[in-house]
This record gives sequence, C-alpha cells and structure tokens, in this order.
Amino acid sequence: PAAPLQGAGSVKQQISNLVALSLRATVPEVDVEPIVEVCTGKFGDYQCNNAMGLWSKVKGSGTSFKNPNAIGQAIAKNLPACDVIESASVAGPGFVNIVLSKSWVAKRIQDMLVNGITTWAPILPVKRVVLDFSSPNIAKEMHVGHLRSTIIGDTLARMFEFSNVEVLRRNHVGDWGTQFGMLIEFLFEKFPNWEELGSQAIGDLQVFYKASKQRFDEDAEFKDRAQQAVVRLQGGEEKYRAAWKKICEISRNEFDQVYKLLDVQLEEKGESFYNPYIPQVLEKLSSQGLIEESEGARVIFIQGHQIPLIVVKRDGGFNYASTDLAALWYRLNVEKAEWIIYVTDVGQQQHFDMFFKAARMAGWLPDPKEKKFPKTSHVGFGLVLGADGKRFRTRSTEVVRLGDLLDEAKSRSKSELLQRLTENGKIVDWTDEELEQTSKAVGYGAVKYADLKNNRLTNYTFSFDQMLSDKGNTAVYLQYAHARICSIIRKSNMDVEELKVSGNISLAHPDERVLGLYLIRYAEIVEEACTNLLPSVLCEYLYNLSEMFTRFYTNCQVVGSPEEPSRLLLCEATAVVMRQCFQLLGITPVYKL
Ligand code: ARG
Repeated sequence: PAAPLQGAGSVKQQISNLVALSLRATVPEVDVEPIVEVCTGKFGDYQCNNAMGLWSKVKGSGTSFKNPNAIGQAIAKNLPACDVIESASVAGPGFVNIVLSKSWVAKRIQDMLVNGITTWAPILPVKRVVLDFSSPNIAKEMHVGHLRSTIIGDTLARMFEFSNVEVLRRNHVGDWGTQFGMLIEFLFEKFPNWEELGSQAIGDLQVFYKASKQRFDEDAEFKDRAQQAVVRLQGGEEKYRAAWKKICEISRNEFDQVYKLLDVQLEEKGESFYNPYIPQVLEKLSSQGLIEESEGARVIFIQGHQIPLIVVKRDGGFNYASTDLAALWYRLNVEKAEWIIYVTDVGQQQHFDMFFKAARMAGWLPDPKEKKFPKTSHVGFGLVLGADGKRFRTRSTEVVRLGDLLDEAKSRSKSELLQRLTENGKIVDWTDEELEQTSKAVGYGAVKYADLKNNRLTNYTFSFDQMLSDKGNTAVYLQYAHARICSIIRKSNMDVEELKVSGNISLAHPDERVLGLYLIRYAEIVEEACTNLLPSVLCEYLYNLSEMFTRFYTNCQVVGSPEEPSRLLLCEATAVVMRQCFQLLGITPVYKL
C-alpha cells in the first residue's frame, strides 16, 4: 500500500493535532493528551474537553487562570489559524466547541472523490496483526459458531487491511490430537484403497467421524489399534502421516467451499504446525519456574483462577493450551506480530484469559494497564439461536450445513426479487446472470450483516425473514438505499466523473452540511471499530449514513435543481462511502434493485 497521502488520518486526529498545538501554547508547563470528541450539543461539530482536567492540575500553582472556563477560552483562542476550523466557542465549565469550516469539509470530500477512498484510511498504531479466526476442527462439523467467527474475523481483517495494517489471516484448524488415531484406523478399515480417494470420496466426514467414534467406543480391539495409531502418527510413521494428510485434505476441501462462497481468504496454519515448537516453549517456561507438577500433569497456576492451566496431560500428551502457548510464542517471535487477535465463541473466554495471563507471567506481553504493544485480544461472540430460542439447528438434521444455509438465503432473496420485478413489470430489464448475481449478493450479504450488526457478545436469533426484510436495519434495506443513489446518478444528464474534477461541492443547506460532516467521519469510525474490535460500529455508521442521505434527499432536490452539480457529487460521495462500508463488511454492493 502507498504511503498515506497528505491529509490522511481521521478528522478527529487532525483536530486533535490542532488542539495539541493549542494546549502547548496555553499551558506549556503541563503535558497532556488532547481530549477531542464529536460534539454532543448543537454548538459545534467536535469538542475539546481538556479544560476541566487541566484546571485541577494547575489551580493552586500560581496560575493566572481564574477557573476552567478561562482555560477553555484560552484553548479556543490559541487554536492555530488554519482552513480547518471556522470558529470555536466555550460552553459551561470549559467545553470548547469547534465548528468546522464548510469549505474545508467540502474540499475533503471532493479530494476523496478524486483520489479515492483509500485517502480516508485511519492511521493505526500497529503495523502487523495476526488474526486467528474461523478455525474449525478437522472431521468435526463446521458449525454456525465457526460461521460467526469467519464473518467477524474477515470483517476485522478487512478493516485493518484498509487501514494499511498487514494482517496475517490465520486458520488455526484443529488438525491434531488423539481423535486422529481412530479416524485413521477407521479409514484403513472402510477404504482399503484410501490412498486413491478423491477429496469428496468419503462423502460426509461428519458421519464418518461419528461412525468411527462409535466403533471406538464399542470395540476394545479397535480402540487399542486406534491408540497405537496415535503413537505411530506422532512418531512420524509414513503410512500414518499419509492417512492423516488425506483426512485433513478432505476436510479442507469442505471448508474451502464455504470460504469460497463467503469470499473469505485464510491461510491455514493448523494446530499441527505448532506441535514441533511445544517442547522448547514449555522448556523455557519451565526454566522460569512457571510450570509445576500437579496430580501427574504439568500445569501453570494463575492468579485469580481456581484451576491451573494444564500444559502437559497426565499421559504426557500436549493439549489445546500447550498448542496455543507455542502458537503465541511463534506469532510474537517469528512472525513479529504486534497484536494477536482470536475470534471464538465467548465460551472459550476462560481459556484465553488464562493463557494470556501465563504469557504475561513469562514476560512475553506487557501489563495491559500500560496500554502497550504487543498485545493479545479475545474477540468473543454469543450463540446463534433458532426461532425457538435454543441453539440454532435446522429441522431435518442435527447439524447445520453452512453451504446449505447460504444457498437458502440466496434462493429466498431470488424468489423475492423475481416476485417484485414481475409485479412492477421490470423483469424484462434483467438478464439471468444479473438476477443470479444480485440474489447472491443480497442473500449472502443479509446473512453476514445480520451477524455483524449485533453487539457480538450477545446471542442472536437467526431468522431468514428478518434478515431478508427490506425494512429496518438490514442489508437488504441498505442495498436498496445504495441502488437508489446509483439510480439518481444515472438519471442525471451530468457526468459525475467530469464533475469530480470540474465541479464544486457546496454545503449551503443544513441537511447537506450534516451529510457532509457525517461522510468525513468515516475514517474515525473505522478507527474506532478496529480499536475496539467491533464491526457493529461500522454497521451502525452505514445505517445512519443511509438515514442521513434520505433526509438530505427528501429536503434537497437533486436532478433538475440549480444545485444539481454539487448535490450529485454528494450523492456520489455517499455511494462511494457506502460501497466501502459494504466492502469492509464483506458484502457485494448492487447497483440496481
Ligand atoms: N478449533 C477451535 C474451535 O473450534 C478454535 C480455535 C481458536 N484459535 C485458537 N488459537 N485457540 O473451537
């Protein structure tokens, strides 16, 4: 990615820079970070909240300021003269309300139209992030929980990538462990010609898993063989490695189909990858005196937790935690990531909490209170529920096949689209290809958005009817809003591409100004969503933006008005920002609906 252009970074950041200069001039004796927020009242666009805190620092020290309000006045006065700020006034105990210059706002939007939305990328304090997401388990089901992890993780990755952060998208697949003994033996038994099996030959791996588990539980002789198979696999015996690879390959093929449908990129580094690193990592922890013997296992005791973190099982084998410790070591020392982010259901919170603490005890990570990098975060999410309020399941089967789920979303959106186009006689304008592409974009987008718009920690109810409704805060509604803007632009006789260079945006009408100001908040919204790892922040922005556009469009005539050139540019800018939001949410925008 190119170096950030001049003027890049969020508006809030730019205001903060100006406020920092003013603070230095106002109270040179104290060093404080600027506190800048979007204005809550109607007297400004942004506000600086430093005066009150500063007052408590300087009062009684012989300062010439009489009260916090006087400090606020000085901060306002000392803001450097520039084209960004129109005026600043002080309210109450010292809030400095800052009004942005209309022409600067307009210019910022126009520059974006000419130079592209990437010029609105925020500047984040990290360069490289490891994002561990999706991470299903070989031969077990890839369930709706993994779907949530995939969707949330992909959006986080897209937001960081947009912000010029390098993202290592890691699929921490569960491809190691004792279950492979029984899977391998079962494979030998059921498919004597297993070496020649194609990637779909077993049919259903989940069924295969269940059957082998049953065999394992019922037949002592099989169980014995399975246990020996684990040893032979871990000892690196050729035939067993090959069988393990085959099983992984078949699973991978199934996962990849889902990733392809969702348009999600991932690089697999499964649990097995870190296996060779475990002994040396545990050795280090042991030499630091962190690992103790407890009831035959080797464990790390962690403050605030009743049970210790087991790192070597009683049988001498490694487990989920030992793998995660080795993986974290690798990510910090080999991949040199500054932020390592794990996306799983909240049920795993305790595991993450414990092993993050272990890493801190070992000195791998600074104390979180210091707010320094490197750091680790667990992005937890709630359950997906069915209409009955219970864990989501389809009627016919125990498990939900993700491919089928996406197919259903698409076919439902297609039949609604067909019905509507038939009713209003527009079906003739659509090719089969367009119908197909649009229903896919709308259907898949609906599934993703329904997931992302929620506060991720809460459980959410999966409902096709709700997510495919064209009313309320849904992807379908937003797709319509975007398509409508595109149709306004098509209707005009003016050439938007030409206007971008020759035209001028004016924000004379109050609704134009409100829309313009909201548009330029884009960068700080992405920044906030990345900082707090909350895709829902971006969804909320997108929804509000479309509402603000509607207000503007209701009150300001576009096509055929004297202001058409300027207003058309505002339409275009809104469409560009909406599309970029869709892009970050992994949703394909549609241009006509
Ligand atoms: N395979 C695990 C599961 O399905 C998720 C792995 C998450 N990543 C990690 N590094 N622990 O629950």
